[in-house]
Order: sequence, then structure tokens, then C-alpha cells
Amino acid sequence: MSIIYDAKENIFHLQTAHTSYVLGVLRGKYLLHLYYGGRISEYHNIEENLPVHAGCTWSATDIEEFNYCTDTLPMEYPCYGSADLRTPAFHAEYESGSALTCPEYVGHRIIKGKKPLPGLPATYVESEQEAETLEITLRDPLTGLELVLSYSVFAEYDVIAKSVRAVNKGSELINIKSILSSTTYLFDKNFEFVHLEGGWGRERHIQKKPLINGSMSVDSKRVSSSHYHSPFLALARPWTTENQGEVYGLSLVYSGNFIAQADTNHQDIVRVNMGINPFGFNWRLEPGEEFQAPEVILTYSDTGFGTMSRNYHRLYRNRLCRGKYRDQERPVLINNWEATYFHFNEEKILEIAKKAKSVGVELMVLDDGWFGKRNTDNCSLGDWTSNREKLPGGVEGLADKVSALGMKFGLWFEPEMVSKDSELYRKHPDWCIHAEGRKRTESRNQLVLDLTRKEVRDYIVEAVSNVLGSAPISYVKWDMNRNITEIGSAGLPGERQQELPHRYILGIYEVLERITAAFPDVLFEGCSGGGGRFDPGMLYYFPQYWTSDDSDAIERLYIQHGTSMVMPACTMGAHVSAVPNHQLHRTTPLKTRGHVAMMGQFGYELDLNSLSEEEIETVKAQISQYKAIRRTVHYGEMYRLCSPFEGRSTAWEYVSPEGNQVVLMYCTIRAMVLTGLTRIRFEGLEPEAQYKDTESGKVYGGDYLMKVGLYMADDRDFESRLIVLERLSAPTP
Ligand code: GLA
Repeated sequence: MSIIYDAKENIFHLQTAHTSYVLGVLRGKYLLHLYYGGRISEYHNIEENLPVHAGCTWSATDIEEFNYCTDTLPMEYPCYGSADLRTPAFHAEYESGSALTCPEYVGHRIIKGKKPLPGLPATYVESEQEAETLEITLRDPLTGLELVLSYSVFAEYDVIAKSVRAVNKGSELINIKSILSSTTYLFDKNFEFVHLEGGWGRERHIQKKPLINGSMSVDSKRVSSSHYHSPFLALARPWTTENQGEVYGLSLVYSGNFIAQADTNHQDIVRVNMGINPFGFNWRLEPGEEFQAPEVILTYSDTGFGTMSRNYHRLYRNRLCRGKYRDQERPVLINNWEATYFHFNEEKILEIAKKAKSVGVELMVLDDGWFGKRNTDNCSLGDWTSNREKLPGGVEGLADKVSALGMKFGLWFEPEMVSKDSELYRKHPDWCIHAEGRKRTESRNQLVLDLTRKEVRDYIVEAVSNVLGSAPISYVKWDMNRNITEIGSAGLPGERQQELPHRYILGIYEVLERITAAFPDVLFEGCSGGGGRFDPGMLYYFPQYWTSDDSDAIERLYIQHGTSMVMPACTMGAHVSAVPNHQLHRTTPLKTRGHVAMMGQFGYELDLNSLSEEEIETVKAQISQYKAIRRTVHYGEMYRLCSPFEGRSTAWEYVSPEGNQVVLMYCTIRAMVLTGLTRIRFEGLEPEAQYKDTESGKVYGGDYLMKVGLYMADDRDFESRLIVLERLSAPTP
């Protein structure tokens, strides 16, 4: 049993294998957050450890005694309306003009398993035994608003999925202005705010800053989780490393505007909020209607960031990603984007495919430029029919020819967009997001389709389905290359215009649900100008994602390292590209480019015909090596042994699910004279087992590898090593 309810004390104790989350109802009304952290066996007496209100200039209290005030109590779901004047999770305006919400605990239920969240991506169970869910209902006696807080405990995964549903049981219209998904507390402020920031080509770099008394937050207002910040926050003790120290992780399963925030008050109590960004949000909830907020996945580790990440990796790999490819080894692909950009024809693509096939590549992906009259990025988005000048037999003709080579065929789409120069725009100029009387700002010469409208969603589903149904297409790269400006919809009434950001996200989720359900055998890879919108919400539809448009191996060390804070390796698209690199002009060895890309979903993004015979031999060897380790990298446990953000090298280790194969990738970023050796100590091995280096044949003890380690030469910039160890059966004593 992972949820224990003590009826006498009105305490809920949620337990996972290594953590406890405790809630209590004070005086029968106030739902409080009592504890989250390492697992404890029991929690008693709600009032034992509550912060007592100590203000002398501020004495307002809505609890009978002077001692307590909601302004300092750890309110589990704080609503604007009582004496709690910190940042609320919930804020609404009522028809009466009032903006006050004061809900009280009215009941709860505990159910087996976990229910899906209507219209939203969410973690799931495959059997009722995998999770247990607590639902607590709060009700405002004056307005009839009910808030149902849901906590699904995945005990074995050491995570708790939290979400909130608002139900209008009153008779007034409610304008919801903020409905965050989770509030938790830290009871001292000696933590760092750890987040992932970036931009195009530099996604998810790790940043850490000590908490301040006041508010710290990261967010998005772009109607996309974006390149700039990820819907993720960790709060870690200042001395936390990869394998030591306390860290709380919060990850929001949502792809739109979000906020992740830590508010530290004068008593050093930290309120941690996460959910849909209240900025630009408004939702009209009519009597009888419900609003479901997305879920936040919480995890806690007292063994550093490594455990936190592995908890996310396991859950997202197994119970967020879906479909046929969730557990399958994915094909090695070649993508023509950096090889040809828009300048290709059928012959050129077949040339690339043939060469790729001869070295062991399994999937040929045709990127942008195959449709309408698109030869540059200023036209044709929305017109999803083959460009017959480039592909005389259409996509179907090319797909047949690629299939005949014994390869799978894949195709790029950007279905959420429309070019002004397109048949679609000429026919439906009101189908894009725009505000009457305002400029339609173009970005990359394109506008965004209004996915709040059913006819637009139907068009996208039909247009993409027509192409997918017309040819043997096994893979789709689903791109989304701009943010949304001049928010407005010709399909929404004035009073609902502010609902557009969330309705857009519900719209894209609906479209993706319909298309992925109709084509269950197609492997979908998400993309958004590289790794923008690479968030857990998208993983529900796309089991892999193009991690960044920056394909330089050294930049990828930082990007993939930061991305792995939350995302498992099996979700990260990573390709070998040409040198000098197209984004940075840096030249790195082919070996290093291969090693770094092999630590994700491996592929090539260049014309193999331009390589020398010797390089082609290297490519062949890379592909066969990758095929021998891909199961371990994708479905094993990852250990980050050296961080590019903290030193001059990077090391990542993966241990296969059975523990019988270990892969270590080591890369020097910058060499230095006389400091050229780094000793790398492995993690996650069996101390008594013996491991054989498959290349050198040397045998090492697991304890030796973990305690003594192996020296890595650090004497050449950008040089890498890949070590594959095979576990031998333990020697007989
Ligand atoms: C985006 C993607 C690239 C490529 C181009 C095509 O930038 O991130 O990988 O597909 O679009 O226009």
C-alpha cells in the first residue's frame, strides 16, 4: 500500500520505495503540506512542526488562534482569497466581481491505478498495481467551486504525479486566471535553483543559483515550452553532486506556457509552484464545467542528480512514451537536411540512400522541401502535396524506390504552420493565428495555423494522413519552427480570446493523438527548430526528439548532458554531420562525432558520398558498433561521470538493463599540458563481478572500476573514447 490515511489524525502519507510525501488536514479544513523527502515510517501530530505566525506588524489570521495564519502555513493548494498573500496556485474572478476563493477540505478517495487526464498527455499505468491515486476534494462553500487534487504514487519509480481539476459546482461563471498543478514547500532556504536554459542551437544548458528571499522563476510566454527554458526545476542542496546530496525534481508534462517558481518568505520557507503560466491565461468555466490542469512529476533523491535523472528516465521511457517503438530498438537513420538543404531531386536522394544502405543505415529521411513549390523557406507550408519537379514520381515513387533498396523511408512535415505564399493561405487567410487590425508578424516567413479551430485541426489530420497513407512511410519528423505572436483567433468569441494559448496546446495534442493512433507503425520524431518544445508532453506522442539543430559534437556534449537531466537517451536524436560544422565551423574528428551521436538515437546528417574510402570504413564500423550497444544506451541506466559544465571533459556511462554490458563514452573538450589525465570511476556495477574490455580483452573487477577507475588521456582537444565492457560470470573462489 503506498497511500496510508490516518483517519484519527487526518494525515495522508504517500510512500514510494525511497520517499515520503505527507499531507494533513488542520482543524478539519486546512489542507497542509507537512513533509516531502526521504522515506519515513510514520508521521504523527500535524501541529508538531508547523511554522507559527511570528509577525508583529501583521496579525491578520483566519484561523481561530493567533498562532497560525494561512500566510505562513504550508498551504497545499494555496488560493488567492484568504490571508495567504504569497503567490497563489489558484486565482479566479467570479461573476459577482469577487476574486476571492477560500476552499476547505471536504473529502477524499483512494483508488487503484491512475486515470488518464482528458485531452492531456500524462504518465500511465499498464496494470492497476503499478500506482495508487489519492484524490482530495476542496470546496469553496460560498461559490461552489471544487478543486480536486490528484496524487498518483508510482512507488517503484520513486515519483508522484500531481494534477488538479477545477469543477464549477456553483451557479456563477468563473474566470480562472491561474490554476497551477503543484505547490510544495522546503522548510529552509539552503537550496539552489537548478534549471535548463538555452536558445536555438544551445538548448538545455544547466544553470544553478542559490535561492533568494523573494521570488525566482523560469517560464515561457511563447505558447510553446520553447528553446529558452524547460518545464523543469530542481532544488538541490548547494553541495549536491551526481551521486551525493538532496535534490527535489519537478517536471511538468505540458508543452505550452509554463512557470516554475520558488518563492522564499521572511521565515525562509520556500513555496515551490509549477504549472501553466498565469501570464496570458484566462479560462471561462461555466456552471457544470470542469478544467483539467496538466500533471507535474515530482521526485526526490538524497543521492544526487544522478538518481533524480534516472527516476525520470525510467518513468518517461516506460510510462510516458507510448506505442510500438517505446520498447523497440529504433533504426539508424540518415537525414538529407545538412547534405542538400532544399536543393535535391529524386536522383540525389537515391544516391544518398544507396550509399547509406551500403554502410548499414536503416532509414532514409527526406527533410524539408519535398512539397508545394518549396525551394527555400518562404513558401508552401500547408500545401502537403509532392513537388513533382523534384520528385517526378511524387513521395510515393521515391518511397517505393527507397523501400526497394531494403531501407525504411521517412518524411519531414511542419503541419502547424502556413506560408503566406501557399494555396492554403490564399484559400483560408483567416486560418492562421492573428488579431484583427494587427500586423501578422512572420517568423521564418511563416504564420501559425489556428489549432483552436476544429476545421483547421481536421485539415491537418487529413493532409498528413493522405500523405502517410499514400506511400510506405515508416517515420515522420514533425517540426514546429516559430513562436506564436499577435495572439487572436477568428474562431473564438471575444471573451474567450485569452484561452487561445491553452486551447492551441489542447489542439496540437488532439491532432497528434489522432494521427499517431491512425498510424501506429510509424515512428514519430518531434522537432522544433531543433530542440525547442522538447518537453515531457511531446514524449507522449513522439518517442524521440531532434535534440538540437547544432550538430557540432562538442556543443552536443553540453546539450545532451543538460537534456539528460530529465530526458532518457532513447528520446534524444543525435546525428553525425559534416566538418567544418555548419553551425559553428568547428572541425572535430569523425570518431568523436560518432561517439557523441551514439549516445542518443543515432544517425547521419551529411552526404556519405562526399566521404573518403577511409572515412566510409569508419562509418561502417561506427554503425556496427552502435547496433551492438544501442539497447544498453537506450534502455539501460545512465550515469553522468564528468560534466562539460564543470570541467574540460565529459563522460557518460550506460549499464544495460541486465547489467551484462557497460558502455562508457569519454570526450576531452580542451586538453592542457601536464594535466592530461583524468581518472574515471564507474558507477552502477556489481562490485564482485568481472568485466572484460571488449576491445583490449583486459579484465577488471567491478569494485576496481568503481573505486580505482581508469585513466583517460586528456591530451588532445575533441578526442573521444568509447569503452564497451562485458560482464563475465563471477570467478569461482
Ligand atoms: C528546422 C529543423 C531542421 C530542419 C529544418 C528544415 O530548423 O530543426 O532539422 O528540418 O527545420 O527547414
